[in-house]
Amino acid sequence: MKSHIQSLLEQTVDSLKQQAILPADFAPRIQVDRTKDKSHGDLATNLAMMMTKAAGKNPRELAQLIIDNLPASSHVAKVEIAGPGFINFFIDENALANQLMTALKDDKFGLELPAAQTVVVDYSSPNLAKEMHVGHLRSTIIGDACARALEFLGHNVIRQNHVGDWGTQFGMLLAYMEELQAEKGEQAELALSDLETFYRAAKLRFDESAEFATRARNLVVSLQSGDEYCLKLWKEFNDISLSHCLEIYQRLGVSMTKADVHGESAYNDDLAQVVKDLDAQGLLSESNGAKVVFQEEFRNKEGEPLPVIIQKADGGYLYATTDLAAIRYRANTLKADRALYFVDLRQALHFQQVFSLAKTAGFAPESMSLEHLGFGTMNGEDGRPFKTRSGGVVKLVDLLDEANVRALELVRSKNPDMDEQELAHIAKVVGTSSVKYADLSKNRASDYIFSFEQMLSFEGNTAPYLLYAYTRVAGIFKRAEGVDLSNATISLEHDKEKDLGNKLAQFGETLTRMVGKGHPHVLCAYLFELAGAFSSFYEACPVLNAETEEQKHSRLLLSQLTAKTLKQGLDLLGIETLERM
Ligand code: ARG
Repeated sequence: MKSHIQSLLEQTVDSLKQQAILPADFAPRIQVDRTKDKSHGDLATNLAMMMTKAAGKNPRELAQLIIDNLPASSHVAKVEIAGPGFINFFIDENALANQLMTALKDDKFGLELPAAQTVVVDYSSPNLAKEMHVGHLRSTIIGDACARALEFLGHNVIRQNHVGDWGTQFGMLLAYMEELQAEKGEQAELALSDLETFYRAAKLRFDESAEFATRARNLVVSLQSGDEYCLKLWKEFNDISLSHCLEIYQRLGVSMTKADVHGESAYNDDLAQVVKDLDAQGLLSESNGAKVVFQEEFRNKEGEPLPVIIQKADGGYLYATTDLAAIRYRANTLKADRALYFVDLRQALHFQQVFSLAKTAGFAPESMSLEHLGFGTMNGEDGRPFKTRSGGVVKLVDLLDEANVRALELVRSKNPDMDEQELAHIAKVVGTSSVKYADLSKNRASDYIFSFEQMLSFEGNTAPYLLYAYTRVAGIFKRAEGVDLSNATISLEHDKEKDLGNKLAQFGETLTRMVGKGHPHVLCAYLFELAGAFSSFYEACPVLNAETEEQKHSRLLLSQLTAKTLKQGLDLLGIETLERM
């Protein structure tokens, strides 16, 4: 409904331009907001205030002009001017009820879908030399939710797992793998099942033995010059490491697959060309033998220019070089309109520099939107970066295991008679979704405190609360089995029915906001409010014991749409629902 009012206002602006009341180049951002107080209508706009300068009239006068030129619509029951020049819209209840009926019947909830774009979503992107840790959890979960929501809205989403599968550390790892294979033969693979330990052991060898270190360096050179034996060893290593990641994706219910992997090594052959092209455009400078680019706008606190290093003195390329090649690929080959990077905020400067350079060098067209959607740090309950008791990095697997154990206890305490198999299934869903939802429900830009207690609580904006709310709504249908709703319609009479109806109608605009800035917490907050609106409705309006059959049917339909919206919303967050818990 919000977008409907928005489009009415757009038409109004056009007609005011035709009448030369507004200049032809006037292009305001038309904002329509939900009102807090329903006596002021359902939606409001400040458009008249936005026009005062361009039109040279006072806002109340302009508000009247807008109202006089507003195309007629059956959705609008009444329009009023308020205060200094706000315009309030009262939505027609029948039109709202019709909108809800359409939402109920259509897989896309009857939403007006936006013009489809090609959107690259760069997320997860762990370094294959090491095991995935909690830092990658945020990228994986937030990125996946946004990818799903973009797809739901009809965009062409291309997932890119920009894994770190290249770099000097591979020399050390390959040298160690070679040593182990010589010692243990086939058994060597086993050592790779714990990448963290493997990495540490390799590092130890590197530091203690000069001979090993030389071998490692030579291996890097051979690897980079495409030596077949080295490449085979490298591929073996990465396959094993990647299989750990894929297991975690599966366990997390993340939609990323092996086919989405397009890591740093995929750009090896383009790196020399990146350097050449920057050079041809006169963008390169020398700094201590390295090739760098200085951009005016990037300076440190002392005002000294901050370079992007493109090639080291020894010829090696850097993270930024690969990212420049990746942008070119995403622009030219994938033809992306937008590229979204779900990466730790600590890399903000890197992305600002690389994005701006990519535009200057023409690696991406001006029209392509490059967005670093960064996230904060996940902290422990002591407010410091999350570590194990012994101070090590927390592995994702261990975290999920603990969540499951705790969820099992919780579910069992609520259902002492449930059989073990069902308990185990419910615990798995509750455990995993609690970890995911805790991350999704916070504004990604802020740091947050990881707390099992908070995330597994049945109170507040948590996964258990929403999963339980869903089972309650779904439960109503079990009890209403056999009721024929094929000719039923929704009518909104009671205030709580209207509130619920209004909330349900906001699903589409919520998704638009979520994908606009890559903010899943917007969808979480909406689902939480929707569950609350349903609770209030259910308390005030008997469903199965309604006064008339029509009322019962209408309320069942409202419940059905609530269940459908909750399920769809949770699905877009990558969260499975349960029929009972
Ligand atoms: N592998 C990097 C890390 O773990 C993240 C890569 C993000 N994507 C990118 N295109 N730079 O920090």
